[in-house]
Amino acid sequence: MTAMPPKAILRLDGVSKSFGGVRALRDVSIGVAQDRIVGVIGPNGAGKTTLFNVITGAHRPDAGDVTFANRPITRWPAYRIVRAGVARTFQNIRLFGSMTVWEHLIVSQRHGGSPLRKMLPGRFADREAWGRAEDALTFFGLEKYRTALARTLPYGIQRKVEMARALTAGPKLLLLDEPVAGMNRDEADDLRALLLRLSARGLSILLIEHDMAFVMNLCHELYVLDFGALIAAGPPSEIRTNPAVLDAYLGSETAC
Ligand SMILES: Nc1ncnc2c1ncn2[C@@H]1O[C@H](COP(=O)(O)OP(=O)(O)O)[C@@H](O)[C@H]1O
Ligand SMILES: [Mg+2]
Repeated sequence: MTAMPPKAILRLDGVSKSFGGVRALRDVSIGVAQDRIVGVIGPNGAGKTTLFNVITGAHRPDAGDVTFANRPITRWPAYRIVRAGVARTFQNIRLFGSMTVWEHLIVSQRHGGSPLRKMLPGRFADREAWGRAEDALTFFGLEKYRTALARTLPYGIQRKVEMARALTAGPKLLLLDEPVAGMNRDEADDLRALLLRLSARGLSILLIEHDMAFVMNLCHELYVLDFGALIAAGPPSEIRTNPAVLDAYLGSETAC
């Protein structure tokens, strides 16, 4: 296994998490270097989403430490971790069906002053919030969906709205839980290009994904989880031929 990156923006050291008798994470240590795109792969139930829940403060680990930008965030509440610069999307899309795309991008942001102000147009608007929303909208090519209600959007577009919303928080680290699930090949290729642009801008990305072609062509580094334990780490070229990985995952019929 490759060593922990020396200048990691995110580190997990010996993280364990159980739910009753289920050991979802067992002594997991990973690192995400600045500006890198790092993937987490593994069969269903391997503990991938739990890993994100621990990083974001949704779950507190039973053991181990989480460090973000040199600060120990293990016991921080979720809102503080977001403010420190960690944003995420969810495996099961979490949008409000009867809100427009634009409303999602505005309402999600933290604002000074009146919460009403952020929604108002013209000279009353929270101009910074509007600017961030506009940037995210444009970056993901969502302009034509600006006034569309979330529930009317195709699945691939909903995923992009979630990513755009995450971006409005101005994160340093973006966590994506199965971002191309439900996307066709063209949409996945388009997303790959967008994530590379974000990475080139200095954003660090940690993503969970089942789509092997996507992961192998995008990630600089991969971690492989199986039954809550890390069984391999390294660049895609190594992971592709790692016998333990092939055995646990790539060759398995349950992999999807
Ligand atoms: N909140 C929870 N309560 C109980 N069990 C959970 C919870 N979250 C995850 N698990 C269990 O932990 C294991 C890992 O789940 P998860 O992290 O969702 O895996 P993955 O994302 O790799 O498919 C599974 O056995 C799952 O049922
Ligand atoms: Mg999951």
